[in-house]
Amino acid sequence: MNILGIDTSCDDTSVSIVQDGKTILSLIVTSQDEFHREFGGVVPEIASRKHLEVITPSLASALDKAGLTLNDIQGVAVTNRPGLIGSLVIGIAAAKSIAYIRRIPLTAVNHLLGHAYAPALEHELEFPHLALIVSGGHTLTARIDHDWTMSVIGFTRDDAAGECLDKVAKMLDLGYPGGKLIDRMAASGDPQAYSFPRPMMNDHSPHFSFSGLKTAVRVFLEKNRHDQNDVHLPDLLASVQEAVMDVLETKTRWTTQQAGLKLITVTGGVAANSRLRQLFRQRSEFLGFRVLFPSNRLCTDNAAVIAGLGYHLIKQAKTASLDLNAEARADLL
Ligand code: KG4
Ligand code: ZN
Repeated sequence: MNILGIDTSCDDTSVSIVQDGKTILSLIVTSQDEFHREFGGVVPEIASRKHLEVITPSLASALDKAGLTLNDIQGVAVTNRPGLIGSLVIGIAAAKSIAYIRRIPLTAVNHLLGHAYAPALEHELEFPHLALIVSGGHTLTARIDHDWTMSVIGFTRDDAAGECLDKVAKMLDLGYPGGKLIDRMAASGDPQAYSFPRPMMNDHSPHFSFSGLKTAVRVFLEKNRHDQNDVHLPDLLASVQEAVMDVLETKTRWTTQQAGLKLITVTGGVAANSRLRQLFRQRSEFLGFRVLFPSNRLCTDNAAVIAGLGYHLIKQAKTASLDLNAEARADLL
């Protein structure tokens, strides 16, 4: 069964065709970073206009790369929540049109559960397992069951981890998106050079908080305003990154243990972080957990995970009608 997936939830336009929830026949991702960079973050109006420009050529390329026509597609999966409304509606309109013309099932996918699906495209998973979903807009842990239902366990009380990194990069005028730049620049820094707080790290709750860390960096920069030359940028970035990743790994390991689970999957844009990967290998894996990270292209926003998960939803008859709407938020609890 070939499922066509579409994701236009934020600032990437993505279309993919996946066979039987497993084999990626094509994956097109058009990044809009260059249009948002000068604003230091995603501008919703620009995002929605760019999606409109590239969605039709992206659909054509996805079919072309897979060597298929619309007649070979048996279902359509589209992200309808959470995300920017003006962006989501572009993908939804395209998905509905195809489902209507071809008279094939349409299914609505939660973007966050889509992220959690990424390792299933590359590995055999056991269920239930613990998913850490960590991106620019979300930081949460959830139990994933065999039928691909998600029960959220922990979530951030304020900023997402990626948002914290992006804001620190913005404070330092490093560019956008900040997480990736920090990862690269921190590689030559000393993560122990400066001590930043690890909010809620050992509070025996599954929840996260990152806004205090962002404030701590702002206060640090204020204090060192006159001695900028004394602050070694890679050391500073490595220390901030260390605080974020230390909290993510520690909390996730604790939560997995509490839930009696053995497998941890780490997904979302921040899952591409090299230090996070290292910490999970050195600590969680060392302590006996199985830890899976998807390859980098499946960590950040992409429609292959939407098509993959869509296959299971369609098989379970979880289909949507043509009056499907976009929702800015997803009910998590
Ligand atoms: O999943 P994603 O592409 O979009 C959202 O749904 O938010 O995640 C984007 C986030 C941004 O905050 C970006 O800075 C972060 O992922 N990111 C990284 C890395 N690559 C992307 N953060 C840390 N290290 C990276 N290598
Ligand atoms: Zn995402």
